Amino acid sequence: MLPTIGLVLVLTCATIFNVFPTKADDLKTYIVQLSLPEGQDFSQVNEIEEWYNSFLSKIPSRSNEKPEMVYAYRHVITGFAAKMSVDQAKAIKNLRGVVSVKPEGVYQLQTTSSPSFLGLRQGSGLWKDSNKGKGTIIGVIDTRITPGHPSFNDNDVPLPPSRWKGKCEVAGCNNKLIGIRNFVNGSTPIDEDGHGTHTASTAAGNSVDNANVFGMANGTASGMAPLAHLAMYKACFQMSCSSSNILAGMDSAIEDGVNVMSLSLGGPQEEFYEDPLAIATFSAIQKGIFVSFSAGNSGPHSRSVSNEAPWILTVGASTIDRRIRTSVLLGNKKVLDGESLYQPKDFDNKLRRLVYPGKDGSTYAASCIEGSLQHTDVKGKVVLCDAGNADLIEMGQVVKDAGGAAMIIANDILSGESISAEAHVLPASYVGYKKGFEIKKYLNSTSSTVATILFRGTVPGTKTDPEVSSFSSRGPNSASPGILKPDIIGPGVDILAAWHESVDNQTGTKATFHVVSGTSMACPHLAGIAALLKSAHPDWSPAVIKSAIMTTGSQMNFT
Ligand SMILES: *[C@@H]1O[C@H](CO)[C@@H](O)[C@H](O)[C@H]1NC(C)=O
Ligand SMILES: *[C@@H]1O[C@H](CO)[C@@H](O)[C@H](O)[C@H]1NC(C)=O
Ligand SMILES: *[C@@H]1O[C@H](CO)[C@@H](O)[C@H](O)[C@H]1NC(C)=O
Ligand SMILES: *[C@@H]1O[C@H](CO)[C@@H](O)[C@H](O)[C@H]1NC(C)=O
Repeated sequence: MLPTIGLVLVLTCATIFNVFPTKADDLKTYIVQLSLPEGQDFSQVNEIEEWYNSFLSKIPSRSNEKPEMVYAYRHVITGFAAKMSVDQAKAIKNLRGVVSVKPEGVYQLQTTSSPSFLGLRQGSGLWKDSNKGKGTIIGVIDTRITPGHPSFNDNDVPLPPSRWKGKCEVAGCNNKLIGIRNFVNGSTPIDEDGHGTHTASTAAGNSVDNANVFGMANGTASGMAPLAHLAMYKACFQMSCSSSNILAGMDSAIEDGVNVMSLSLGGPQEEFYEDPLAIATFSAIQKGIFVSFSAGNSGPHSRSVSNEAPWILTVGASTIDRRIRTSVLLGNKKVLDGESLYQPKDFDNKLRRLVYPGKDGSTYAASCIEGSLQHTDVKGKVVLCDAGNADLIEMGQVVKDAGGAAMIIANDILSGESISAEAHVLPASYVGYKKGFEIKKYLNSTSSTVATILFRGTVPGTKTDPEVSSFSSRGPNSASPGILKPDIIGPGVDILAAWHESVDNQTGTKATFHVVSGTSMACPHLAGIAALLKSAHPDWSPAVIKSAIMTTGSQMNFT
């Protein structure tokens, strides 16, 4: 009966075609999930591809709109990704053996002292028991990588295990960086945005002395599993990744023999059976591969967490036990602490006029976005801006271009006291909401207000570290409210790790490290920890490792 129904629908679709001819441009990538016919196992690679192709040949097409196979998956799902028209997608859905047909989705990418903060120390504890991750392979599904970066040196890293089947599509691999694959056509896997280099080095970068940026966060940089191997699967371009490419990266990673996968990306909240990443990661864990995902940067709103499946580890972001401190000194002698990565030595910290372009109530003027300072004289002054409407570094550029001498950024009430150290282009301090409120009270209290920025360098954190950052996505879990998510927090604020270029072009140092923040930075910390546990306990399943991570803790208060 079923094939007949299928045929009827196919014909109906063919008719629609004639009325509304589709151009090749209208072809979209769909992910088609199939159910394996009973008793079939397709042991040969070409057998399964033939079977996949048989579905494409069963749907109507004209010469300019032939459906086109994009990826034939082997591990993550039984199925494939193909370029098709809407009508072809409808037609394929009605073929026997097709479980689901879904247009590919778009996922967004969401970074010295974090090892010791997590209790990892030379010659003791987990680093000792796990031999720093020796013998394990972490697959990072991300943007791209910087082969040859000092963090990817292979000192003390052995040859990859014999099960490794991966490859390097570009030059520059060694015993540390053992694989580079590109799943985004028309672009290189060599890093131009930093994200993949940062996440990969956080998980398993080797140790590098004197790592810093602008002289800040100086120390020995090390990934969590410094002797583990790394493989990069490029599935993202700029800041977004398509599900068909992510699945292709994961499919390769499984085939190649990774032990752990790290994915600092997230997409829409979906039912598990409709979520391609939930399905793919279920296949991965069945094969003994641990999967760490970022929780997302959409906090502090509730129900903002992504990557909700119970079999993966979903990681939120917290502060660590240090700050990169700049403080605001007001004319009334009050000192209010904030942060900035850029701390020039040649800034004389004499008190300057303090202005707040939003004093008359204009949120536009207070935003310090391009064009907003037209009616404020900021020349030579310290300018107070409100966060929330523009990129923090771009705000500084606007103030600098208008002749401002320094900038204070005050958080909105929702972001509260969560701040981060940014590579500002002028002397700056990013302060929390309460401190911003104090500064505004001072501005109201007198007509001649003055302030300056004090540079304090790298300082210890506060008693309350680790603190969940406001941007870290929150539960509850939308797909299944009974399952708590995120699972855990990891270091995700002001994280120093490898970068593709020197951001420090003002002082001219060559160091290619950067301090960045996000749940993208927290996720690879936990991927590295999972690799350490796998190395120490090769027989542990992903669920045992997840349980061990989530149920081991110590009460801590850093001072
Ligand atoms: C990438 O390009 C190659 C060769 O040009 C092609 O065979 C392949 O199908 C393309 N892959 C995707 C995902 O578009
Ligand atoms: C970083 O620390 C090392 C070792 O303590 C020191 O020799 C070096 O000068 C420091 N670099 C900076 C930029 O502070
Ligand atoms: C400062 O004064 C303005 C205008 O009177 C008022 O709207 C604002 O709430 C005051 N801010 C503070 C922090 O007192
Ligand atoms: C510093 O680097 C940034 C981004 O890489 C660039 O936009 C800026 O023009 C550079 N500044 C100088 C002085 O080279």
